[in-house]
This record gives sequence, structure tokens and C-alpha cells, in this order.
Amino acid sequence: MKTVEIKPDIYWVGVIDWAIRDFHGYVTPHGTTYNNFLIKDEQVTLVDCVKHEFASTTIGNIKTLVDPSKVVNLIVNHIEPDHCGAIGELMSFMPQATIYITERGKKGLERYADTSSWTIKTVKSGDTLNIGKYTLHFLETPMLHWPDSMVTYVKEAKLLISQDAFGQHLATSQRFDDEFLGCYPLFELEDAVKDYYANILMPFGQLIKAKIAEIVKLGLEIDMIAPDHGIIWRGNPGKIIQMYLDMADGKADLSVAIVYDTMWHSTEMMTIPIMEGIKDEGVGCKVITLRASPMSVAIKEFWKARGTLIGTPTLNNVIFPSVAEFLYHVGGLRPKNRLMGAFGSYGWGGGGVKESYEVIKKMGLEVFEPGIQVIYKPTAEDKLKCYEFGREFARKVKEYHKKFE
Ligand code: FEO
Repeated sequence: MKTVEIKPDIYWVGVIDWAIRDFHGYVTPHGTTYNNFLIKDEQVTLVDCVKHEFASTTIGNIKTLVDPSKVVNLIVNHIEPDHCGAIGELMSFMPQATIYITERGKKGLERYADTSSWTIKTVKSGDTLNIGKYTLHFLETPMLHWPDSMVTYVKEAKLLISQDAFGQHLATSQRFDDEFLGCYPLFELEDAVKDYYANILMPFGQLIKAKIAEIVKLGLEIDMIAPDHGIIWRGNPGKIIQMYLDMADGKADLSVAIVYDTMWHSTEMMTIPIMEGIKDEGVGCKVITLRASPMSVAIKEFWKARGTLIGTPTLNNVIFPSVAEFLYHVGGLRPKNRLMGAFGSYGWGGGGVKESYEVIKKMGLEVFEPGIQVIYKPTAEDKLKCYEFGREFARKVKEYHKKFE
């Protein structure tokens, strides 16, 4: 694969993974990239590795620039296997290289690879490494995305190599945001950023805000942000920082997501008048059928909307399993600044809607009550009630949304 010089003597030597559709359970319809960077300085330095199956690709890329045995420093910003899976094969080509990694990274790496013959130096925030004309500054970013994580700032190049942060699962022939936007609409890039954030970084919003504030306080001049996934922010790095600040604050569209599943179509029949009620209040509404949609798509649509209604049948007096999976998944992502309610059908006893509210309340989100339930199959009268329920929910979403304008 052709390497790309992103800054003088700093090269992208990564991999485009066009084919991946399941990224540890997370659906990636647009593939991804594993970005790593070779710095041809007095001390040849590699920043980050790639996934195991692409070891030979990145080694081939490096060989077009230098003999891999000349690499003397390997910076490991993050040990998750999509970045570190190839480290064993890479180190077999550069056995003399010194690995720079956080203390927690070293402990984790020792679990993933046989490190006994490698030279490893641990670094912490504020540590630097001069490699010639460039100086690398390390900044720990614990939990962004794992406890070991750090970023590497190349001062003289005004380049932040940010590992997972600011990334997107997006396989493209373009390497930079300005190139991508010359070929594709902005929406595609923004949607990929939101998808990645919603599914991976949503729980860490406050940490993200604090880390961005720390970078601002340090006065780091940044004119390029190079994440380990997706496009590199060259044309407008400020855009991705602002997007992250907005997402960390729980910014959402004035819209509603209806996330539901159904057994004999009764709950499904309720979604239509509810959606029409929402629409007639002038609020956009997307209906996500859990049985037909990957979980990560439902999570993204939940995250983009200010309000979400959960639709569940009752099965054995509790929530329908796919809806329970969605709610518990959302709960683990610790969302904020969202309004939620629930509706559903039952045959006898009920319980699904009641339990949905119990789970929603545990998330600490704004709650729209009461929910609406129908027995067996909605009648024409029930459908009218569903329509009014949708209208009322949309009115409450509009009112709640004003708090964030
Ligand atoms: Fe792209 Fe946390 O790994």
C-alpha cells in the first residue's frame, strides 16, 4: 500500500480494512482503518502498530521507506488488539527497538505478548523523547479508550497522534478530512464520528472535556490531529474538537427515536400512530426495529435524538429480550441529557412497560410518564390514544430541548 507523508518526514504506514463488518460485536458498515505513523528522523520512530492480520501490510509499507531494522523507537499509545495485535511480528523486524508505553500499558502488553526480550520504557504525562529534529511529548489519556491510553504530540510538526480519540470507523481512499470532503458530503463524516463516539466513547464524556481543557491549558499548538482510525484532521482539526465538546455535553438533535421490537405486530402497530403524532408536532422521528437493525445502529440513533420511546411487548411478565438488551446496553454507556418513555402491548398481566421504566429511571435520564399499553392488539381507539401519546411526547421533547439551546 502506498504510504502518505502527512508532515515532513512523518508518514502514514497504516492499513485500510475495507472488509470488516463486525468490530468486536460493533457493526462497521463502512469498514475502518488502522493508522500508524513512521517518523524518519535521526532516530527512526514508529508510532503505533496495527491489527494482527495486517502485520505484513504495515511492514511492507515501512520497507518502502526504511529498513525496519533501523526503527529504534516504537511508541505504543494503546494496547487494544486492533492496534497492538501486530506488535510481535513488528518487533521481530526491529528487535532492538525501545518501546515507549504507559505503566498500565506495559502491564497489559505483558498479558497480550511475550515481552521478555523487549526493551520497554514506561512514560507518563509530561515526559518527552527527542528523536532529532522532532520531540515527542506524551500525555496520558486513561479510559480514552482504555486505562493504558496515551496520545503523542509532535511539537515541531504541531501534530497530535490521538489513537482512538477523534477517530471514525471509515475505510476510504482519502487520508485527510479535506480530501474526503472534496469527494463526499460532510454528513458522511459527521455520522461516522457520531457512530464511533456513541458506541465507544459515550461513557467518557466528562473525561474527554477535562482532557481537551488540559491540552488547551498546556498551550499545545495543533494543526493536525491524526487518530488511529479513519481520516486525519488536516483541513479543520478544530471541527472535531468542537464536535467532541458538543457530544461530551450531550448535544442532540431535536428529534425522536422509537426503538422497539414486536411479537405478533401489536407493539409494531402502535409505533405508526405514535410516529404520526410526533411528526404532527413538527419533530423528526426515526423508527428502529431491533430485530432488523444492528445494536450499534440503534445506539447511534438513540444518541442522536433528544428523545427516545421504547416499545416492548411483555414476555413472561418482563421486557422483551431484544429490548432489554438494548436498554441495558444504553445504560452501560451512561448517556445524559435525554428524555425517555415507553409503550407496548401485552396479553395478560403486563410488565414489559413497567420494567422498561424501572431500567430507564436507573439511568438517571429525564422520564416521560405515564407510558401507554394495549391489551392483545390495538383497536382504533387505542391508535388514537397512541397518536396523542406521540404528540404529547414530542411537546415534552421540544420543551426539554430548549434547556440546551
Ligand atoms: Fe481502536 Fe481502543 O482500540
